[in-house]
Order: sequence, then C-alpha cells, then structure tokens
Amino acid sequence: MSKELIRLKDVTMKFDGETVLDNVNIYFNDKEFLTLLGPSGCGKTTLLRIIGGFQTPTEGDVFFDGVRINDVPPHKRQVNTVFQKYALFPHLNVYDNVAFGLRIPKEAEGGTDKSGKREKVRLSREEIDSRVREMLEVVSLKGFEHRSISSLSGGQQQRVAIARALVNRPKVLLLDEPLGALDMRLRKDMQQELKRIQQRLGITFINVTHDQEEALAMSDTVVVINEGVIQQIGTPEDIYNEPKNAFVADFIGESNIVDGIMREDKVVEIFNRRFACLDSGFAKDEPVDVVIRPEDVDIVSESEGQLRGVVTSVTFKGVHYDTIVDFYGFKWLIQTTDYCPVDSHIGIRIDPDGIHVMKKSRYSGMFGDYSSYSEEYDEINDPTLLDVEEAEGRDNEE
Ligand SMILES: Nc1ncnc2c1ncn2[C@@H]1O[C@H](COP(=O)(O)OP(=O)(O)OP(=O)(O)O)[C@@H](O)[C@H]1O
Ligand SMILES: [Mg+2]
Repeated sequence: MSKELIRLKDVTMKFDGETVLDNVNIYFNDKEFLTLLGPSGCGKTTLLRIIGGFQTPTEGDVFFDGVRINDVPPHKRQVNTVFQKYALFPHLNVYDNVAFGLRIPKEAEGGTDKSGKREKVRLSREEIDSRVREMLEVVSLKGFEHRSISSLSGGQQQRVAIARALVNRPKVLLLDEPLGALDMRLRKDMQQELKRIQQRLGITFINVTHDQEEALAMSDTVVVINEGVIQQIGTPEDIYNEPKNAFVADFIGESNIVDGIMREDKVVEIFNRRFACLDSGFAKDEPVDVVIRPEDVDIVSESEGQLRGVVTSVTFKGVHYDTIVDFYGFKWLIQTTDYCPVDSHIGIRIDPDGIHVMKKSRYSGMFGDYSSYSEEYDEINDPTLLDVEEAEGRDNEE
C-alpha cells in the first residue's frame, strides 16, 4: 500500500458566495500519478491552487503528511507547480531558467543567528551545477544548456518548465494542463515522457486535464469532477468500465445510456427486453441507467438480434465505422468493423459484460442519446424512417 501524502478534508471554496468546490474529500498517495479530470470551469485549477497554497479554502483543511498546512505559504510547501503558461524567463537561457530557484538562498531548517533571524543557506556552485545537469538529463534536454528560450519549440519549453519545477526536489509536482498548448502528436509523446519522468523520480504527480484520453493513458488514479463536486475516484479501468453515473459514463469515452429496470440480480430490462448482465444489489424492479459502450455491441441479422433497429448514418473512422442505429426512436452509436449501409435493418447482441448498470442520479436522462450526432440532422426529420409505434409493431410480430 502506498503511503498517504496529501489529504483534503471537507474542502469548500466559494468566490463571492458562488460555490466552486463543494465539500471535497480526497487523498493523494506518495509516488502516485493522479489526474483531475473535468469540463472547463469545474474547479480543477482551484483545487490545484489549494494544494499549492495559492488559495485558502473557505472551509475545510489541507493536510501534508498528517500535518495541517492551511496556513503554510506556497514556498514552504514541498510542492511545485508547472503552470499552463510555462512562465519561463525569456532573457535567461535554458540552464539559468532551471538554476533560478536553486540560487535563491533558503532559510535553514534549524537554528537562528544571534539577532534571532533564521540563517540562510546557499547551495554551492557545484551542487547547483550537478542538480541542473541532472534535471536537464531527466527531461532529455542535455546539450540545450546555452540555448535561448525563444529558440525552443513548444515541447522543449515545456520540458524546461518541468525541469525548473523539479530541480528543487519537491515531493509533489502539480501540473495544470501542461500539454494543453501542444499539438496532438507532441501531446502523445509528452504523455509518455511525463509518465517516465514521474516513475524515474518516484514522486507524486497531480495532473489537471479536460482530455479524457490523456487522463486514462497517464494516470494511476483518475478523479472526475463536475460543478465542483467529485463524481468518481478510481483507476482508469474502473472509471471506464464501472462509471458511477451518467455524467461520468458520458464524459469518459462514448456511451449509449438508456433507461432500464432491474428485474432481479443480473437481469436488466431495456426496451421491454430482458438482458443478462453482471450487476446485482439493486432493489427488485428498481429503475436504473444502463450504459452500453459502442464497441460492446455486436451487429447480427435481424432475426438473431436481441433488439432490432435501422441504420441512420455511417461514418468511416479508419479502424471502425461509427454506425448510428435507431431503436424505437432512441439512437445508439455502435462502433463496428462490419459495414452496414444506411437504411439497413439490423439486429444487435450484447454480452452480459457489455452491460453496465448504474443507480439513477441527477444526471439521468441528460446524456447518452446519439440523436444529435453530427451527420444526423437531415434524418431526424425524415418521415420515411420508422417511428416508435411502427418499430414496436415490427418487434411484436415475431
Ligand atoms: N479568483 C477567483 N475569483 C472568482 N471566481 C473564480 C476565481 N477563480 C476561479 N473562479 C471561478 O471558479 C470556477 C472554477 O474555476 P477553475 O479555474 O478552477 O476551473 P477549471 O476547472 O480549472 O477550468 P478550465 O478547464 O477552464 O481551466 C469558474 O467558474 C471560475 O470563474
Ligand atoms: Mg483550469
């Protein structure tokens, strides 16, 4: 078990009476790569700023190694931050940017001098040099010491910012959308790179992003936040496979989310059909939300299908087709390598482990219908497509 390093207890943050973080309870383990994930404005940066000491929570406490640190200023916390805008010094070269923090004299841990002031300690030139070179090596910028900041690419500037934040040997690195300014390809490279650096140094990284793919790819733990409230904390696999509510299911990847009724343990009813699933522990006949991922649906012939529908749009995506299928007026996204042209009547089958049942929540009914899928608009009003009654009629014929 990893050791707990930081804990936020009942943390609420209000600005001008507006609640931005609502009773947040969370801990961060030593040596963990954790990502705060959520849409714009949900409070991610605010949470990071509270950990960094740049903001004091309206209510609640922050603990580091078991000690309350609400009143400890940022420079006395064992935490450093890489801001989205790297804030490098443009007039200094790479070496001096990284060395900057090491050249500032630090208050000594222990005693005071005769006048009662804390002694200041300076690192030796050799110590500074060895630490700067070590960090430049960690971020793969060996040989860039004398380059000016303006001559570097975005990705290289990002590495300098990371080296500068790590050179003081913090126990925790906070990263606020560190890859936001990079193009797609570089982002993917830097994701791997950040993970590698974190593992090599063996410290805690708390990363902020609104990119769900990035969160899943990099993290040991993902924290999904919406409107200042933590929705779910878990491993990337947990969050993807076992989302807690319709918000999480919709935010992480693509999801069809439909109403269901839990008839008994491991049996859920969708569109008046019973499906085997793996979920249990619900009340008998409890209304639930059911998540079906687009890749978990098999297209079969109409007669073999557990449900039948009509294809209303097909988009080639390289590896698969995004196929929108109308089931009784509700549109699903199915990702399949089988090409089914528009207007074909198909059946589908879903294995028990492709069905995930969730409790009803305040997000029920808000997500998970693909009627507004981009290429759909023409077809939504197309009277030649089956309407609900017609579709149900077809279904009852068998
Ligand atoms: N100092 C402040 N004064 C007033 N309101 C603030 C302040 N800081 C943040 N807010 C508000 O708090 C909310 C959350 O902001 P925050 O920056 O934490 O969001 P975020 O999740 O980081 O969003 P983004 O992904 O866009 O960076 C927003 O509505 C923002 O306007
Ligand atoms: Mg932010």
